[in-house]
Amino acid sequence: MKGTWATNYKRLSMSGSTVCGITGIVTKGHSNIGELLVMCSRKLTYRGYDSVGVAAVNNNIVTLRKDVGTIDDVNEKLHLSSLPGDRGIAQLRWATYGAPTKVNAQPHFGCSSVFYGAHNGNLHNYFEYRQDLIDTGHIIRSENDGELCVHAVDKYYEETGDMFEAVRMSTKDLKGAFAYTVGRADEPEIYAVKMGSSLVAGVSPIGTIVSSDLPSILPLTNQVVYLDDGEMVVLREESVKVYRVEDGAELDRPIQTSNVDARAAEKGGFPHFMLKEINEQPQVSKDVMGLLQVPEQEKWLKMIEDANRFYLVACGSSYNASIVGTYYFNRLAGVPVIPTIGGQFIPMYGQTLDNNCTTMLVSQSGETKDVLNVLKLIDEENLGRTLGVLNVIGSSLMFGANDYIPMGCGYEVSVPATKTYYSQSIIFAYLAAKLGERNGHIDESEAKQFIETLSNDLPRLTQETIDKTGILAKNLARTLTRERDMYCLGYGFTDGVAREGALKLKEICYSHVEGMYSSEFKHGPLSIVTDAYPVIFTTTTEDSWMVINHINEASCRGGRAIIVGERESNLEPYVENKMDYLEVPKSDVLINPILDVIPLQLLSYFLSVDLGINPDLPRNLSKTLTVD
Ligand code: M6R
Repeated sequence: MKGTWATNYKRLSMSGSTVCGITGIVTKGHSNIGELLVMCSRKLTYRGYDSVGVAAVNNNIVTLRKDVGTIDDVNEKLHLSSLPGDRGIAQLRWATYGAPTKVNAQPHFGCSSVFYGAHNGNLHNYFEYRQDLIDTGHIIRSENDGELCVHAVDKYYEETGDMFEAVRMSTKDLKGAFAYTVGRADEPEIYAVKMGSSLVAGVSPIGTIVSSDLPSILPLTNQVVYLDDGEMVVLREESVKVYRVEDGAELDRPIQTSNVDARAAEKGGFPHFMLKEINEQPQVSKDVMGLLQVPEQEKWLKMIEDANRFYLVACGSSYNASIVGTYYFNRLAGVPVIPTIGGQFIPMYGQTLDNNCTTMLVSQSGETKDVLNVLKLIDEENLGRTLGVLNVIGSSLMFGANDYIPMGCGYEVSVPATKTYYSQSIIFAYLAAKLGERNGHIDESEAKQFIETLSNDLPRLTQETIDKTGILAKNLARTLTRERDMYCLGYGFTDGVAREGALKLKEICYSHVEGMYSSEFKHGPLSIVTDAYPVIFTTTTEDSWMVINHINEASCRGGRAIIVGERESNLEPYVENKMDYLEVPKSDVLINPILDVIPLQLLSYFLSVDLGINPDLPRNLSKTLTVD
């Protein structure tokens, strides 16, 4: 291990990038570019909704319209979808450099309206480079780093008079991690480069497309071209060609058929993606169990068995699921796991890793920067094996890890994670049972029975939980609309569940809800409890005897106990109203942690809607956080 964690961290941080979503389309002479860009870009809404813009090229003239708001808001206001043209670029922004204002919205022009382009990423040399450009006569209009990408191309075009060379050379000036797409009004091509941020291209019957992410390609085609960092792509009416940025050499890149179902990015009759995705969980349990019971599992299990230390690294909901996983590995396999928040991993363990460690990197998107920093360090310094657990096929984590386990959820569009958290819990439960069976920590029959329950009973139990707790959660939500502050507590196996419930409530209800270990509550936070203060307790049937103590500590001080778990007569006296008991169906105690999260997902969903919030697009957030 070279360097201190601080120097390593700094080095890795130099490749940070923002979220945002870019889409470029070149049609075969169609004239409805606005409509196509809005249709495709809408699928990237989860990446950014601070502002939106479209640059449409019609008869070699670029029309640029952009403003603050979601794609639907801005489209309604500026009629983006009626913009005529045969090619163009759209961008959805999640603000970092420059406030979320109209002038900072993307796409941008270069010095004149000949060059147009947009980026996704962070330029770490933004301030110096902006000044350099101004000093050499460039007119910079915004405080957004994406504008500099267009000016960099503009600058090199002045030198070379060749768009391909200008795009290629522009990357030399820009530091950080980014992708951008750019064109010239009087040239038919659109160019895009991938330098650390995701980018994928597609070839369709109506033309070609490049985008930050697959969902916006799928409305046009399932014929996909994946790109690597350091590559650029040129879109023409008929073709997508890939080149190496360094020397401009053309690369032989096959067109692949994506089997992702485009309907995954539709609401399918539900009012919000979040509710749709919660309701998909019974199917997810079937799908993920199918994906786990494959010959590749031997490699995954060996990677854990052969490790001298085994880490789980993740952020947000994926971290909460990793905590649930840690309990499963302990209980079913007797395997110690160190679960760590992505951003904390290098300062906490960076100096003590060695090449006998196995690090499981858990990330729905497979693009979370805090997690990818860890992957990069382990890879560069040869610090053991990496196993990704990811949902997005084609993500950086998938390509970068030594091996990966797919979550099998299909696209999760809503910003709050639901079905992917659920899938992660199942993956950990399954792996732990298999490991326990192999190392004798549990009986073969016990392991088999648990795996059968996961395969055969969990889909039904999940459906029953949704059916049973949906109405309860809806009624309960109505009584909580004035509460701005709550706790959500778990004990033992439901530790991660409670944290996840609290995260959901924070994220989409804009309330302060702290999730923590219930026995820890008395060590300080209990002082917040006054008359009717809501405290949610999640429990398994195995732990309720202990949780009763913690409920008592809150309720004897006037606190309002809300219980999530199976119906147990010893818990009933602690709820004042029927609606304060979110009862999940009876099942194996080891299934409780998987089911208990569902009523909390539903509660947060209904509360968010009651508060007039769109749960799919909570303010200030983005689903894929590729920033440090
Ligand atoms: O894509 P990832 O699983 O790496 O994302 C990690 C977090 O950003 C994510 O789980 C976030 O906490 C969710 N939006 C919470 O619902």
